[in-house]
Amino acid sequence: MSDRPGHKSGRGYLEIAVTIPCQHEEMVSDFIIEEVAFGLVTEDLDDQVRIICYIPHDNGPDEKIDKLKKYLSIMEVLPDELIDERIKTKNIEEIDWINEYQKSFEPVVIGDLVIKTPWDKTEFPGKKIIIIEPKMAFGTGKHETTQLCLRAIEKEIEPGMKVLDLGTGSGILSIYAAMLGASEILGLDIDPDAVPNALENAEMNNVSDKFGARTGSMEQIDKKNYYDLVISNLIYDGIVKLFDDFLAALKPGGKMILSGILDDQKNQLTEFIKFKASFEIEIMQQNEWLCYILRTR
Ligand SMILES: C[S@@+](CC[C@H](N)C(=O)[O-])C[C@H]1O[C@@H](n2cnc3c(N)ncnc32)[C@H](O)[C@@H]1O
Repeated sequence: MSDRPGHKSGRGYLEIAVTIPCQHEEMVSDFIIEEVAFGLVTEDLDDQVRIICYIPHDNGPDEKIDKLKKYLSIMEVLPDELIDERIKTKNIEEIDWINEYQKSFEPVVIGDLVIKTPWDKTEFPGKKIIIIEPKMAFGTGKHETTQLCLRAIEKEIEPGMKVLDLGTGSGILSIYAAMLGASEILGLDIDPDAVPNALENAEMNNVSDKFGARTGSMEQIDKKNYYDLVISNLIYDGIVKLFDDFLAALKPGGKMILSGILDDQKNQLTEFIKFKASFEIEIMQQNEWLCYILRTR
């Protein structure tokens, strides 16, 4: 029998902690959730992040570690010679799952805005608060693209605006738009898990009266030239594909906030937008991520 820690028999878990450069956090976390362990927690360490997950001893931890190592190597997350030393394991008898899970959702502070979970009782005097129940839908406020959109919404929203939030996820952007004065917001998402989560979050933030959500995409829009503001945090391909539909949904004089675009896609997207319509373009950036604000000239 090997002396690798995964071979401990009986109940309990193997804790795996892998330390990687923080730019790979999302990609590696996704891989771990899909292929290695059901849940994880992360700890920020300057420019690195430690991802910790737990595998029951009777669920083949050795194979899971091998899978993880192979992934880190193929995706060039770490140089091969560093992989072994960056993965630490420890045997654990019992885990306080709820505590571990909740620890991974520290409040996110963006200027005057704080995004926190319903169970976080920390007070933030003088700040605007969005409460998000973290479920399967994207949008806890941690990602750069969400943060860029929130900042752009703060700049661009005007009282009474009608807003379309395409790819609403947790509903976070719609909720902020409503808090800042938008009068009517429609959130759409192709992910069926997103809509109930977005509606629940809207209720928790007392903006249900302004927010509606539907499963689907732009085919759900029957009103042309209706929205003052179209917000969409997708990826480059999604934005390009749906851009004509966004234009059709937008009122004359309307604006768009588009994110999920990487720095190296900037020239391509800017040319594409200029070719399609005459907007004043402002580009915001956070790390490698961009957010476009388009204002009708
Ligand atoms: C990056 S998340 C953004 C979530 C949230 N709006 C935010 O900013 O944090 C993108 C969301 O768009 C949804 N999505 C992707 N393609 C879509 C499409 N073609 N139509 C509608 N929703 C889409 C995904 O399911 C996901 O929830």
